[in-house]
Amino acid sequence: MINFYVLTLFPEMIVSGMNNSVIGRAIENGLISLEAVDIREYSTDKHLHVDDYPYGGGAGMVMQPEPVYRAFLDIKEKTGKKEIRVVYLTPQGKVFKQEMAQEFSKEEDIIFLCGHYEGIDERVLEMIVTDYVSVGDYVLTGGELPAMVMMDAIARLVPKVLNNDSSAELESFQGNLLEYPQYTRPAEFFGKKVPEVLLSGHHKNIEKWRREQSLIRTLERRADLLEKAELSKEDKEFLKKVEIERKKTE
Ligand code: ADE
Repeated sequence: MINFYVLTLFPEMIVSGMNNSVIGRAIENGLISLEAVDIREYSTDKHLHVDDYPYGGGAGMVMQPEPVYRAFLDIKEKTGKKEIRVVYLTPQGKVFKQEMAQEFSKEEDIIFLCGHYEGIDERVLEMIVTDYVSVGDYVLTGGELPAMVMMDAIARLVPKVLNNDSSAELESFQGNLLEYPQYTRPAEFFGKKVPEVLLSGHHKNIEKWRREQSLIRTLERRADLLEKAELSKEDKEFLKKVEIERKKTE
């Protein structure tokens, strides 16, 4: 069980983005909970403003510290926790990776703080943020999509969220290898046949073929991952063979 709280100016974006498919079902089944908290509801201003001009000048608006802090205190009180992880989504953060998802999946409560405009007043960030996280080296208009990316990656690691236990471990990045290709019916599509071995019913051969496909795929698409991958002696020998073959055809 893990409780996600999202501090945002666009709660409906979070709710509509998360209440579908696997994650929607996980919420329904009480395996995770999700609360999108509207920062605007914590504005002290009669016009419900939550942003103001930046001190020192410059373009855009900055989100004020007070509504963010009040919203945070409300959630913290609700959890009854003395300490709580607060993730601020920012391109200035540490880049989100599978290992980070694994680490966060062990928490009971996580608050995601989503900024907009030119960001949030630095003082409240200093006061409440425990983790600065980026989803990649590009700039988005707000933290909502990154928060959803993180919640999706974390939630699927929570026990029972995926119906088959093994699939969270087996696929891409666990062990730093990419997943092997998958096929389903029909056995032939526009003249393209499903690899013969998969129709053979020979489990050992299928397993070997899949492992080799994972290795080839990682070598071709994400060679950088191979340095950290857990490789057996056979894996290394196979990769060496593939590389020798490739050099011949170059
Ligand atoms: N907010 C804007 N861009 C972002 C990014 N790349 N990662 C996380 N939060 C962001």
